[in-house]
Amino acid sequence: MSRYAAITGWGHCLPERVVTNKDLESRINTSDEWIWKRTGIRERRIAGPGETTSSLCTAAARRALTCANLPAAKLDLVICATTTPDHLLPNTACVVQQRLGASQAGAFDVNAACTGFVYALAVGAQFLRAGTLERVLVVGGETLSRFTNWDDRGTCILFGDGAGAVVLEATDRECGVLSTVLGSRGDLEHLLAIEAGGSAKPPTPETLARGEHFITMRGTDIFKLAVRAMSRAASEALAKAGVRLPEVRAVIAHQANVRILRSTQEALDLPWEKFFINVDRYGNTGAGSVPLALSEFLAAGGVSPGENLLLASFGGGLTWAASVVRWADVDAVVAQREVPSLPLAPDGIERPFDRTPTALAG
Ligand code: ACO
Repeated sequence: MSRYAAITGWGHCLPERVVTNKDLESRINTSDEWIWKRTGIRERRIAGPGETTSSLCTAAARRALTCANLPAAKLDLVICATTTPDHLLPNTACVVQQRLGASQAGAFDVNAACTGFVYALAVGAQFLRAGTLERVLVVGGETLSRFTNWDDRGTCILFGDGAGAVVLEATDRECGVLSTVLGSRGDLEHLLAIEAGGSAKPPTPETLARGEHFITMRGTDIFKLAVRAMSRAASEALAKAGVRLPEVRAVIAHQANVRILRSTQEALDLPWEKFFINVDRYGNTGAGSVPLALSEFLAAGGVSPGENLLLASFGGGLTWAASVVRWADVDAVVAQREVPSLPLAPDGIERPFDRTPTALAG
């Protein structure tokens, strides 16, 4: 019998602090109009002193588990996609695993920059489809603001913080992650990088003074490659899944720049209305971008069982990926589950399958 990997829970978390383009005008030589026209970004969320990549990811994961009505102790694996881990060691997935109480789960991080979530989703889906595991949490999140040079107008206008998560469950129904196409070009690593802080260039007072712990980027070069790579990967993922363009219900693509999304839409020849957009409110949240957009799209009532979603992303490395997800009959997949659902909340009120926007959002 064939096995599939269905999404049964989703959620996201955003820091409360909003930094608008107007706020940036008072710090660097830029304007709201320039940022809006070149990127489609109006504002972004920035982590507060107590917030970390793991705290955002844990909150997003809790919401996804509530949405799926699944106790954390029933997870087999936690995969965290991030480029801005809390620490080099331990991995952020272990921090999330411990905070959730996912006592039976393995945990590891995936680093493929902004493409990380689609890579991690593919890894999680493979464990389920191979019959190795039953339930996997895939979370993507970043605190890119901690690696942003707030005096560099070429980068600081772009990035934001946030996280999103999904629960993947094995099922014999034909749905879920149907195909994935992954790509990379390590020869272009210099286009987007954090030079110092790793083992090749450990941090020193000199690297700090030169600002080599900040993100550097050659935006125009990335722009052209991003459009080509995402649209090609998307076409290949659709062909692999046997899904035609008119059968795509919505495109959930990496929210880096609305002009990149527009050009990708034109290259794919899909209606613009099919592209979900929230880059205006959050900027580029790296590996958090696709799951955050997916969770907001679903919270808005997005999709019916059997409809196809197209995920696409690109990022540092360079890396890119696309995936076709056929929406599951979530209630039917959950009904087949052979583990108990969530216990009552401490206040005694049962809130299973809480998929209201308030429950899913930060
Ligand atoms: N405000 C005002 N002017 C600015 C700003 C700013 N914030 N930033 C740059 N400029 C100026 C430049 O100095 C340049 O001036 P000049 O002509 O006098 O030299 C002019 O605006 C044009 O600059 P470009 O870099 O050519 O502008 P472009 O249209 O390419 O837009 C941008 C820049 C927004 C960065 C765009 O290239 C882009 O979005 N690229 C993709 C970046 C991206 O997605 N990166 C993330 C990858 S995903 C990941 O892994 C994190």
